[in-house]
Amino acid sequence: MHHKYAAHIHYLRQKVEKELEEISFPERPGNLYNPLVYSLSAGGKRIRPLLVLLACELFARKNNLSLYPAIGIELFHNFTLIHDDIMDEADIRRNRKTVYKKWGRNSAILSGDVMLVRAYDYLCRCKKEVLPEVLKTFSDAAVRVCEGQQLDMEFEKKEEVSLREYLGMVSRKTGALVAASLKIGGLTGGATAGAAERLWETGNNLGIAFQLQDDYLDTFSTGMKFGKKIGGDIMSNKKTFLSVTAMELASGKEKQRMKNLYSGYYSSRAGRNKKIETITGIFREMEIDKRATEYINRYYNKCLSLLYKIPARSRSSETLRHFIDDLRKRKS
Ligand code: IPE
Ligand code: IPE
Ligand code: MG
Ligand code: MG
Ligand code: MG
Repeated sequence: MHHKYAAHIHYLRQKVEKELEEISFPERPGNLYNPLVYSLSAGGKRIRPLLVLLACELFARKNNLSLYPAIGIELFHNFTLIHDDIMDEADIRRNRKTVYKKWGRNSAILSGDVMLVRAYDYLCRCKKEVLPEVLKTFSDAAVRVCEGQQLDMEFEKKEEVSLREYLGMVSRKTGALVAASLKIGGLTGGATAGAAERLWETGNNLGIAFQLQDDYLDTFSTGMKFGKKIGGDIMSNKKTFLSVTAMELASGKEKQRMKNLYSGYYSSRAGRNKKIETITGIFREMEIDKRATEYINRYYNKCLSLLYKIPARSRSSETLRHFIDDLRKRKS
């Protein structure tokens, strides 16, 4: 059973990779199109397109109805990453230079825009009965991602952000697209309106769990596979689950120390590394890592209990549950 599940996921992942490889972009202007090929061939976990296919299979025996929308969602995701790396001033993604570091901001903005437009082309390639609802779900998610990204930027400058505000921000920047992935997959497979709504809610919780893990790994990952700069969030004074919780739990003196560290500007590499090291030490002392793990599990559990209540083909529900369990265990 377990083996069959893994083989099925492998098969779906190959299907996604093959379709992505087949996307062809013109040769010129190279500085517009090369970043797209670069971004799509750099790997990535492909969790969103897989969620689309798996959600389709909850209701339909064939998943080919959802392959193009799945590709559309992965294109949209890659667009958000290209722009996100400009906003976060990130140098490394998927173990490579980010698009903006390699081609500059202007190319990264425009290439991202092209990726977004092409995402819509793929998304539209679904049965016309479900197209209006698929498009509406996608556009709503896209706007929510922008809201989340705007809040994320504003929070960097804010001294204190509550856990509640933080969760509202991640529910938008990451939860919305994962929610839309499950809902759109369900719609293409013939889900009822009620089931589609519940899939959205399931995915929203999954997305929040996924972002909490991303925050955790940004500080505590040890593997090479994470592919991003460890401590990048601390360096850019990002409000993450870790920093927000530490601030909420810290006493007066500890709190002041953290505020000072977070507002400090370090021009040298050594200074920045020292800041990362010190703040990571404080997180460990306060056992924020444990607390993060608790919260991550809480959101995964919520997601699974919502999933159980959706009437669907039982084999496919099991497969999706296994996939979600694997995400829970991820180390990169
Ligand atoms: C990164 O997403 C951005 C977040 C929402 C945390 P992924 O971790 O899915 O990135 P890739 O596509 O696998 O590189
Ligand atoms: C990214 O959040 C969310 C979106 C791309 C919309 P992060 O900024 O934490 O993602 P990473 O860590 O750069 O992948
Ligand atoms: Mg970001
Ligand atoms: Mg980022
Ligand atoms: Mg991150």
